[in-house]
Amino acid sequence: MNVHDSEKMAGILSETGYMRTDVTNDADVIVLNTCSIRDKAEQKFYSELGRLNKIKKNRPNLKIAVAGCIAQQKGEILFNKFPYVDYVLGPNNIDSLQEWISSRAQNKEHRSQTTALQINPEYHTKTLPVRREGRVRAWVSIMYGCDNYCAYCVVPYTRGRERSRSSHDIKTELIKLAKDGFKEVTFLGQNVNSYGKNLLEDSSFSSLLKALHEVDGIDRIRFVTSHPKDLSEKLIKTMKELPKVCNHIHLPLQAGSDKVLSLMNRKYIFGEYMEKVTMLKQAIPDIAITSDIIVGFPGEDDADFNMTINALDEIQYDGIFAFKYSKRPDTKALDLPDHINESTKSARLKKVLKLQEEITFGKNKRLEGKVLKVLVEGPSNSDKSRLTGRTGNNKIVNFYGDEKDIGQFVNINILQARQHSLFGEKV
Ligand code: 5AD
Ligand code: SF4
Repeated sequence: MNVHDSEKMAGILSETGYMRTDVTNDADVIVLNTCSIRDKAEQKFYSELGRLNKIKKNRPNLKIAVAGCIAQQKGEILFNKFPYVDYVLGPNNIDSLQEWISSRAQNKEHRSQTTALQINPEYHTKTLPVRREGRVRAWVSIMYGCDNYCAYCVVPYTRGRERSRSSHDIKTELIKLAKDGFKEVTFLGQNVNSYGKNLLEDSSFSSLLKALHEVDGIDRIRFVTSHPKDLSEKLIKTMKELPKVCNHIHLPLQAGSDKVLSLMNRKYIFGEYMEKVTMLKQAIPDIAITSDIIVGFPGEDDADFNMTINALDEIQYDGIFAFKYSKRPDTKALDLPDHINESTKSARLKKVLKLQEEITFGKNKRLEGKVLKVLVEGPSNSDKSRLTGRTGNNKIVNFYGDEKDIGQFVNINILQARQHSLFGEKV
């Protein structure tokens, strides 16, 4: 989501006449897009800001804007601590960059140190220019904000209440993407399964998928993230019926213990989660399921943690993102008793990652010798002489190919499984 927000900011800057540079020292304007989901991300931002301060000392005309969730939470306080910051804008005010940039360009009276932090209730009705990375896959926002208030999570406080974009606006964006040659889209929302709740039009996520499935030229549809409590039988049926919808779902479990799930305010118990996993696997046998896991949530004892380990064993995810619980401002979990010490959290994280690595590698290994259909995205980041792409169920596949394969579907014979990717040859 943050990456796509950055693409929107880059889109606005491009439309206003700015050119991208990879050399920080050459920049006239720097926008730092921040994340406050965990403390680590926040610390990374402060050290980056310190680095920019040094650059600005030699180049006083450099303008620095801070965007994203830290900007939303800290607001004007950032100016006190970091007087060299010029502009602070929240994740629902990305459009305001345009005005800030234009007033600078026209040399209008430009009060230095301004903010745009009001959560704009109209933000979801705007289609912003986007400067996308790549030319095969595109992110598309379908909704903003979140109403779920999971006890550990800062998102409802920084991104505001849940609001859906109209299906008409989303479809218009998709038609343009298809015209520009994009083949795959990923719909973005904190909880895509509750799409449409605030809209006057009669729309559910299933009906949105059906409407967008008609767009010619878009061959693959993905979406993130699904909240397990809102994953319906109807949506599973729609996924099964619509051939363009990829056989992959990211369905964050967070924890295996009902006690911890309740403390987290996740609104489901493990048994209900498993029912949905069973339904998914029955409807779509080759579906890949991935998840997010938090270890060391307040109150998680050894028995609770073992339930997470057992859950990973039972579900056999294709991959997970696992995190140590991190204290976040404003969130309910701060007030819970029995916070877990850092070394226990680290040990638990290590155990989770080790188990999942074995499961993921085992699953990848079973794909050796199979021929998989891959949509080719471009040169691989780790080795520019190779191309990289993805299968429908989101496995990364690297192979030696031609420039003309980019944007095409190719069949790849898998020769070797790696931990996070597969290597193969074109057939
Ligand atoms: N600590 C650790 N992980 C968190 N996440 C969200 N908030 C926190 C936190 N305070 C994780 C959840 C979520 C993912 C995007 O980030 O697992 O699904
Ligand atoms: Fe955060 Fe929960 Fe909303 Fe996801 S569903 S963004 S974890 S509050």
